Amino acid sequence: MKPTNDFVVIKAEEDSVNVIGLTRGTDTRFHHSEKLDRGEVMIAQFTEHTSAIKVRGKAQILTSFGEVQSDSKHSSS
Ligand code: TRP
Repeated sequence: MKPTNDFVVIKAEEDSVNVIGLTRGTDTRFHHSEKLDRGEVMIAQFTEHTSAIKVRGKAQILTSFGEVQSDSKHSSS
């Protein structure tokens, strides 16, 4: 599968947000982890290697489906 044109935009709203890529195929495992500090942005695609993306920490996530907010584990707001 080729990358689609659909990009996912992740903007970290705290330090040490992790963007984790999970493998495509029978075996779903982490293959990449990217650490973003507050204000940093990652723009990513789903590819032949990446079927899912997990975000840990407080971030703003934009996709073609809309916008969603992830929160940190111990968020008070
Ligand atoms: N080499 C990976 C791939 O082509 C890079 C990648 C694409 C990635 N999308 C990602 C890594 C999302 C983390 C999260 O699949």
